[in-house]
Amino acid sequence: MSDTEQAPPGVDTAVPTPARMYDYYLGGTDNFEVDRAAAEKVLANMPEAGDAAWANRGFLQRSVRWLAERGVRQFIDVGAGLPTMNNTHDAAQAVAPDASVLYADNDPMVRAHAEKLLAGSTGTAFITADFRDPDGILGHEVTAGMIDLTKPVALLVVALVHFIPDADDPWGVVRRYMDRLAPGSYLVLSAGTGDRQADRAVGTVRDVYARSTASVHLRTRAEVERFFTGMEIVPPWEGAAAKVCYIGEWGAEDPDAADSDGSRWAYCAVARREG
Ligand SMILES: C[S@@+](CC[C@H](N)C(=O)[O-])C[C@H]1O[C@@H](n2cnc3c(N)ncnc32)[C@H](O)[C@@H]1O
Repeated sequence: MSDTEQAPPGVDTAVPTPARMYDYYLGGTDNFEVDRAAAEKVLANMPEAGDAAWANRGFLQRSVRWLAERGVRQFIDVGAGLPTMNNTHDAAQAVAPDASVLYADNDPMVRAHAEKLLAGSTGTAFITADFRDPDGILGHEVTAGMIDLTKPVALLVVALVHFIPDADDPWGVVRRYMDRLAPGSYLVLSAGTGDRQADRAVGTVRDVYARSTASVHLRTRAEVERFFTGMEIVPPWEGAAAKVCYIGEWGAEDPDAADSDGSRWAYCAVARREG
């Protein structure tokens, strides 16, 4: 999108946003000059940023399909981003046409895009909401109209928690969602990490996002594992132990081949809430 085009209502084209930069890494057009310039600074020291974004999308799509194949019919995708293709409802409804998908994001550009993207689709809705407000999202009238909280739900928190500082306790926020979901519900989560990355690349990522609408907080493996405390992590691929892994590996037929440079920028897992 060029900056001379009319920006949708509420969209500030002067400060980069994580959603629009992510869209740029993925080759989308829902971004402005300021986002492209910021993303290019990241790419200068992290050329695998596009690969990381695609690896993350692959994790989301494979995990949603896996859940739909196991009977999950309700999905709440927080920090949805809604890139152009192959979103949560596409993956879920390809297996189960009756699946319901509620999307939430706090970026007004994502809302504008959602209105276009979801027009004409069934079983989907979008709400503008902040991840840090689980009661607001789970208690929203749109949620009540499409999600039955007495039945299992898959909560997607994909490539989002690295925009939430420790001071806002993202672990406690995830726990508050999961406590309200029915037994048999799932958590699908990925989170950026600086483990095994060069200081220079990590420093650039931190500096660039510090000037966007949300700073970045990369987490260690142990910190990501904490999101799944008290839940049953599922084995990420056939024959694997139940564990947190890199995003490219999850659900991969050949996890060694999927272990790319981009994939190592985020950990992920799918875990089930028992009883
Ligand atoms: C990197 S994108 C990930 C999009 C999608 N979940 C995926 O994995 O492909 C991060 C998304 O989180 C959203 N986001 C960041 N902070 C948020 C918050 N506090 N509440 C809701 N959404 C947030 C951004 O607007 C952006 O769309």
